[in-house]
Amino acid sequence: MKKILITGGAGFIGSHVVRLFVNKYSNYEIVNLDKLTYAGNLANLRDIENKPNYRFVKGDIVDAAFINQLFAENQFDGVIHLAAESHVDRSISNPLEFVMTNVIGTVNLLNAARNQWKDNFSAHRFYHVSTDEVYGTLGETGMFTETTAYDPHSPYSASKASSDHFVRAYHDTYGLNVVISNCSNNYGSFHFPEKLIPLSINNIKNNKSIPIYGKGENVRDWLWVEDHARAIDLIYHKAAAGSTYNIGGHNEWTNIDLIRLLCKIMDKKLNRADGESAKLITFVKDRAGHDLRYAIDSSKLQKDLGWTPSLQFEEGLEKTVDWYLSNEEWLNNVTSGDYKNYYQAQYVKR
Ligand code: NAD
Ligand code: DAU
Repeated sequence: MKKILITGGAGFIGSHVVRLFVNKYSNYEIVNLDKLTYAGNLANLRDIENKPNYRFVKGDIVDAAFINQLFAENQFDGVIHLAAESHVDRSISNPLEFVMTNVIGTVNLLNAARNQWKDNFSAHRFYHVSTDEVYGTLGETGMFTETTAYDPHSPYSASKASSDHFVRAYHDTYGLNVVISNCSNNYGSFHFPEKLIPLSINNIKNNKSIPIYGKGENVRDWLWVEDHARAIDLIYHKAAAGSTYNIGGHNEWTNIDLIRLLCKIMDKKLNRADGESAKLITFVKDRAGHDLRYAIDSSKLQKDLGWTPSLQFEEGLEKTVDWYLSNEEWLNNVTSGDYKNYYQAQYVKR
């Protein structure tokens, strides 16, 4: 029996990774460590929470004493680290929170792993899940590769870049068996509705305006979240120590084109006249430091480990809409309470 610590497993991507590992590996004990911030939600894991190979621990990666004790009490074989503050807009209003969780939290985990695994680093893997945003922004052409220089522009991406550097430093300095992946924008079920796609689905459903930053010309490369989870599974098990992999969907959309497609799907699903939902599109003040374009070259991952994205975007987006429309209770729960204050501050008082 192997014991793997997954951090941030109650969040969007983390819950898909936990579900995949719990269902696929009955010989692994999966320990999900999560602070349950506004973005963490145990309802994301209802279907697997009673499985014998799953355990939830509530805790904060910023609390070094707690993390050291957790490692002392458990002989983890590996760590898959996803816990983070993940929303760019929140990082603009509260950068320090991002330094604490994304940088200090990651270093706390690295220290605990280093101390616990020092007699046999090669048998213990530390997998750090990162983002393409560390590479900064592209012009109209080109793609991010694993050797693109880091050039972060938001407090969020700066904090993720910093954590990536620490992870590499622990490999180069102490010999910790680390791997890093940098992924593009994910979409799918359990995505918190502060992010573009679920926020727009929720607003269209409730006949509220869809806020598009600037002119909607920014480009993102969208990947089905379950394809990201599959990539993480492959990389965790097969990548060489110290290696980095880019993960992306080869699926670039300007925000405005994406939202127009979403509006079309929503018109159909909600039995609205064609063009009805698109009337809700509203151009609002741009995000500060807004990166123009992200595009990932994931050929290394395809070539080395045989990974390819499984879904066409149109199909994935329709599945995502179906999920949100049939999980009203989930959506209502996460958009009640504090979400209303966030929404007011971010979109109404801007
Ligand atoms: P999310 O915000 O949905 O979830 C983050 C989770 O981390 C939540 O469950 C939260 O409770 C937990 N968490 C936050 N602070 C914590 C702390 N101090 N201690 C313990 N747990 C804490 O994020 P996500 O979108 O699922 O992203 C997961 C990871 O993947 C992040 O590291 C993010 O940088 C990275 N990533 C995200 C995307 C994307 O499109 N969402 C793309 C590439 C990489
Ligand atoms: O690229 C990977 C990153 O993708 C992850 O590292 C981040 O954790 C994740 O949040 C995501 O970052 P983005 O900033 O790209 O995602 P977001 O959904 O916030 O925004 C997508 C695009 O849509 C971006 O160009 C900003 C724009 N946008 C966003 C919101 C929330 C709008 O136009 N209006 C909005 O209301």
